[in-house]
Amino acid sequence: MVTGSAGFIGGHVSQTLRAAGLDVVGLDLRHGADVRDAALLDTLLPGAGAVVHQAAKVGLGVHVADLPDYASVNVYGTAVLLAAMARHGIARLVLASSMVVYGEGRYACAMHGQARPGPRAVHDLERGRFDPACPRCGEPLLWTAIEEDAPADPRNAYASSKLAQEHLAANWARETGGRVAALRYHNVYGPRMPRDTPYAGVAAIFRSELEAGRAPKVFEDGRQLRDFVHVRDVARANLTALAAPVPPGELRAWNIASGTPRTVGEMARALAAERGGPGPLITGEYRLGDVRHIVASPGRAAAELGFRAEVGFEAGMKEFARS
Ligand SMILES: NC(=O)c1ccc[n+]([C@@H]2O[C@H](COP(=O)([O-])OP(=O)(O)OC[C@H]3O[C@@H](n4cnc5c(N)ncnc54)[C@H](O)[C@@H]3O)[C@@H](O)[C@H]2O)c1
Ligand SMILES: [Zn+2]
Repeated sequence: MVTGSAGFIGGHVSQTLRAAGLDVVGLDLRHGADVRDAALLDTLLPGAGAVVHQAAKVGLGVHVADLPDYASVNVYGTAVLLAAMARHGIARLVLASSMVVYGEGRYACAMHGQARPGPRAVHDLERGRFDPACPRCGEPLLWTAIEEDAPADPRNAYASSKLAQEHLAANWARETGGRVAALRYHNVYGPRMPRDTPYAGVAAIFRSELEAGRAPKVFEDGRQLRDFVHVRDVARANLTALAAPVPPGELRAWNIASGTPRTVGEMARALAAERGGPGPLITGEYRLGDVRHIVASPGRAAAELGFRAEVGFEAGMKEFARS
């Protein structure tokens, strides 16, 4: 069973699983099927070999007013799903988790080694000092790749609800002997990415600007790093994760990333070039909650799942610019 099967990623996941010969039962609020409906799950789950849980309320989660919704769909919805899986003896879960559970990226100071910067100060941002500073000497920190055992630091309601999903799934695994593969997606992009919603990813926002003939507006100095991973690679990771080597009773997490970090500015330039302009505008604006760099280590997924992204940045953005 795939939850969120009518969504951006869930749609690609369903397609990939079907192409691999699996029988997919989809569930999505867009088709009137709510993951919080225990009675509905009792009709859909019997016979299922595994659950791939993509359904969620996504977005930034910056408004306190949205807290109840994030908790209801992401936290309570996952709890209802896990309880139903236990009733029906389904022992495998692939969970769509997120890089947002980490909060900030990982950094080091040339002098002082690994460092965990606090939130960036307004007076630094105002002066265009976007890189976080070493808490000991004040020098700009250098980014390093984030690994799955980095401490969790969810910084908004969405992030907290995604981390809660992992915790509840781990509880379920321990109690039932089930196995959970938690896939921490980085910035997913590709065909059928939602456009022009308050929750759209930055790639979709830039593309919408270009479609309207406007320059994509890039915040800060455009050098902030992200890992853009193609949705078909993410779908393939989900297929692989159905057979992930997780011991019974445990949850194991993997970054799902391309392994080739790019700046937000590079991404805007690639999309603008493919669409014939206009080129990006680097605005120097900032948003207080934004992370400077978040770069994934793809090593654990490669070593343990045999997962490596196949869609390269240039080819992927080229296709995306026109899709
Ligand atoms: N897009 C990204 O870059 C990204 C990054 C990290 C993690 N994720 C995670 O991936 C998953 C899929 O995200 P997406 O980008 O495809 O978003 P999406 O909004 O396109 O898909 C989510 C789907 O879940 C469905 N849904 C919402 N509430 C539901 C409910 N109560 N019952 C049943 N279905 C419900 C929605 O109708 C939607 O079709 C989410 O769990 C999200 O947290 C996405
Ligand atoms: Zn230092």
